[in-house]
Amino acid sequence: MSRRRRIYEGKAKVLFEGPEPGTLVQYFKDDATAFNNQKKGVITGKGVLNNRISEYLMTRLGEIGVPTHFVRRLNMREQLIREVEIIPIEVVVRNVAAGSLSKRFGIPEGTALPRSIVEYYYKSEELGNPMVSEEHITAFGWAAPQDLDDMVALSLRVNDYLSGLFLGIGLRLVDFKLEFGRLWENEEMRIVLADEISPDNCRLWDIKTNEKLDKDRFRQDLGKVEEAYQEVARRLGILPEGGPVDVKAPKTIQ
Ligand SMILES: Nc1ncnc2c1ncn2[C@@H]1O[C@H](COP(=O)(O)OP(=O)(O)O)[C@@H](O)[C@H]1O
Ligand SMILES: [Mg+2]
Repeated sequence: MSRRRRIYEGKAKVLFEGPEPGTLVQYFKDDATAFNNQKKGVITGKGVLNNRISEYLMTRLGEIGVPTHFVRRLNMREQLIREVEIIPIEVVVRNVAAGSLSKRFGIPEGTALPRSIVEYYYKSEELGNPMVSEEHITAFGWAAPQDLDDMVALSLRVNDYLSGLFLGIGLRLVDFKLEFGRLWENEEMRIVLADEISPDNCRLWDIKTNEKLDKDRFRQDLGKVEEAYQEVARRLGILPEGGPVDVKAPKTIQ
């Protein structure tokens, strides 16, 4: 495994050259960062769980026709993905006020939003991932208007689908961040969902207790961080009692 060429090492994952051209191996680390790298830590087992959770969610999304980079999981910490040209925009979809939206506009955390709100952030660590508008994105050439239209349409489909999926296991999808990339097949270019979908980039609250089951437990030092990631995997039915063996169907909570 260490013989493979390392393409990129980020905060949460490492990308290696894949077995065939146009593929990459995405390795999930236990490292966690928050507040633009100011807070660093390790969440033991996070990489294994996020690999599984992202596999599960990307597979379900693929089944409803959302194109994704996911090919297959290779082992506990690695998955094979299609290499894409990452669009340097993070798309955030919000259903309930939390995090920076609550802070910026003084809206108490937990306030239901009148409708889902889509925000864009420019992927630049040096600049601290600033929030940008459609105007900035198209004027600076980060994405074409058509790319952006596709990204928003896909993000809203992801929101509808995942909101329902999580509701079925007693979790509220408060908000989440997506990354997209360009994938060329022959002469055709398609926008596909890339990166990962996991409790690292989704806010998930228990429907009944409002308990946070996501990276906010790490950000806000709430404790039981590992347990939260495990609980999400358990409710999705991908954390069997005897260790991670088979993928089972999600467990519905009444
Ligand atoms: N299919 C893909 N092809 C190429 N790059 C990807 C793909 N999916 C995700 N990436 C990129 O790989 C990196 C994943 O590692 P991560 O630790 O999340 O990095 P970062 O610290 O930049 O967020 C991200 O920069 C992400 O944009
Ligand atoms: Mg990342």
